[in-house]
Amino acid sequence: MRENLKYLLIILCLLYPMKEMAQVNRGELAPTPPMGFMTWNYFGVNIHEDDLRTLADALVESGLRDLGFNHIFIDDGWQGGRDSKNNMIADPKKFPSGMKALVDYVHSKGLKIGIYSDAATLTCAGYTASLGFEEQDAKTFAKWGFDYLKYDYCHAPADWQTAIARYEKMATALQNSGRNIVFGVCEWGDRQPWIWAKKAGGQLWRTTADVRDKWSCGVNVKNQSELHGKGAGIWDITNINADLHTFAGPNGWNDPDMLVVGLYGKKGAPSSDLGGTGCTDTEYQSQMSLWCLMAAPLMITCDVRNMNEATRRILSNKDIIDIDQDKLGKQAQRVVNESVWQIFVKPLSNGDVAIGILNLSDKEQTANVNVQDFGIVGKNKAKDLWSKKTFKLNSQGKIKVTVASHETKVYRLSK
Ligand code: GLA
Repeated sequence: MRENLKYLLIILCLLYPMKEMAQVNRGELAPTPPMGFMTWNYFGVNIHEDDLRTLADALVESGLRDLGFNHIFIDDGWQGGRDSKNNMIADPKKFPSGMKALVDYVHSKGLKIGIYSDAATLTCAGYTASLGFEEQDAKTFAKWGFDYLKYDYCHAPADWQTAIARYEKMATALQNSGRNIVFGVCEWGDRQPWIWAKKAGGQLWRTTADVRDKWSCGVNVKNQSELHGKGAGIWDITNINADLHTFAGPNGWNDPDMLVVGLYGKKGAPSSDLGGTGCTDTEYQSQMSLWCLMAAPLMITCDVRNMNEATRRILSNKDIIDIDQDKLGKQAQRVVNESVWQIFVKPLSNGDVAIGILNLSDKEQTANVNVQDFGIVGKNKAKDLWSKKTFKLNSQGKIKVTVASHETKVYRLSK
């Protein structure tokens, strides 16, 4: 009998690590684009656990959690260096109760939580980063209970090989951490991560320089490297990210950076750098429309504890969020790319199609859009996902649209 017990114990011990490993299937960690609140654009490095708790509360109370915004993403500035055993510690002034207590609180609200580090010795804002400590830091993040890691690339060499190796190293460390941690690659599109980041173990990758709270830098920028230093607005980022539609799909998303919706040019915030003096509500609504059409991760950055009505309405449009979160996971294809009109088409899992029509000019414009020109046939119903009006398409598949300057109309077309 004792012999049997001994064997049973040995088998259990052998099986236990397999159970741990079975929890981690990195290839399936982000079937739809991640959503939540990210600290950077509003707080910069001035983050505090009290704010993070009240932000978590606000996500729940505003209904945003139940619409899918189910993460608090902590960005740069949380770090307090390393202890005598080289374990990363949180800044005790910003996190007096310790990171684990905050993570537990956020989890108790039915939310997940993300953390931030960098593939060098210092982060972009100059805090302790993870190079050389990947395994140890991944274990620390897992022990604290984090569900997501944004991994930046400041202070790291410019070449592709080093970047790929450093991202792979952290992805492997997360794999071995015993916890499912989604991995966000953040090297700003400089080394075309859409080609390699998924294979390296990432579930999303930034495609451009940091977004600023503005519509455009005023220059027709065609690729990411030209955007650095100019201040990337909503339109500049759209223009670059739109051409990458073939690279996005379930568990591997193009990340055009955070939503600036509702920031209104908040002074002193990173999003107000480089001419980020704010946008109109029409432009904020366009960002939400375009990000959802492009199947982008949706990271809110305005203060969700104090949203005005317009911001609440823009962020809480379930019909639009459904386009982003559609399980087919296709990023819209840009089918018209002209100086006034930009048109995007996104196929959806139930056979419906979303079409987005953006007016880039500085005046209201009217057009007759024939959806059959874009291969959309057999759809005779349309719903305007902002006004909620439904109407029938005529047999030629024409939609007459009047679109304000910088507005994006979005229609869901169905049988
Ligand atoms: C980089 C990233 C930003 C933010 C900051 C933090 O600029 O691209 O999104 O994380 O670093 O320092």
